[in-house]
Amino acid sequence: MGDPPNDWLFYFRGIPFMHQIYNTESLEKLEDFEVMDDDVFITTYPKSGTTWMQVLLSLVYVEGDESRVKDINNFDRAPWLEAMMNDVLNRKRPRLISSHLPFNLQPRMLREGKGKVIHVLRNPKDTLVSFYHFHKLTKFLESPSDFQTFIEQFIDAKVFIGSWFNHVRGWYENTHPNILHVTYEDMTNDLDDVIKKVCEFLGKSLTNQQVESVKHHSSFNVMRDNPKTNHSKVEIFDFEKGTFIRKGKVGDWKDYFTVAQSERFDDVYHESMVGLDLDFIWDL
Ligand code: A3P
Repeated sequence: MGDPPNDWLFYFRGIPFMHQIYNTESLEKLEDFEVMDDDVFITTYPKSGTTWMQVLLSLVYVEGDESRVKDINNFDRAPWLEAMMNDVLNRKRPRLISSHLPFNLQPRMLREGKGKVIHVLRNPKDTLVSFYHFHKLTKFLESPSDFQTFIEQFIDAKVFIGSWFNHVRGWYENTHPNILHVTYEDMTNDLDDVIKKVCEFLGKSLTNQQVESVKHHSSFNVMRDNPKTNHSKVEIFDFEKGTFIRKGKVGDWKDYFTVAQSERFDDVYHESMVGLDLDFIWDL
């Protein structure tokens, strides 16, 4: 493991975290965090569709009432476990809690099956491209010098939250009934089906009209234009460099990877994910 990849990051149990947002003491305390039966965690590797699921679930909980996402910021509706503990503790139940932590750094009670988890995952080439742009946008991360360098940093786990391969394996291998796995590609392909599965998982029942409202207010264009969901008021981003709700496409990676880069990535992917029953949609 050695020294942290750069001055912007520090290691906690082998995983790189941003100095500006996280600290060792609060990460250590998470082991004993008290999980409630009705807690719902959204867990993701960064850039996999976290914000989209935060908005979708926020709406499902209020039967599609748009004021929930028009009036309240993402961070306040679904605070981050590892960075906003006081907000999490002050939330009214049922709590919606977001987390980028790998499975093994989650609270013990969650690992033992308490609460519910919706784990969102996305094909790693699109995740990587989105993360590349995110590094440029975020003031607290080193801006990558070029795309090729970033591919190697991503493969070598020298990015915030570390290895995509280990993160996804750690969550996906987990077949506990309290965990629902949802892919970004499924959300893009058939959001009705994802909403149905999410509602079944959470024991919610929505009318067709309420489902339409959830779909509308969590759609790419509506989220992009809503300051409470597009992060445009969040100070850690430099909006001269881009937008948070950026492109929202499956297969965007094709505009970035050369054939050689794609083949190299595929080799690493197949080697790292061997034995895992996981099929991504890479293009639509
Ligand atoms: P791109 O950078 O590829 O556009 P996260 O919330 O985990 O950080 O993920 C951000 C990614 O999800 C970004 O991907 C963003 O544009 C995309 N996204 C956010 N809301 C979306 C929506 N409603 N539909 C499709 N993609 C969405």
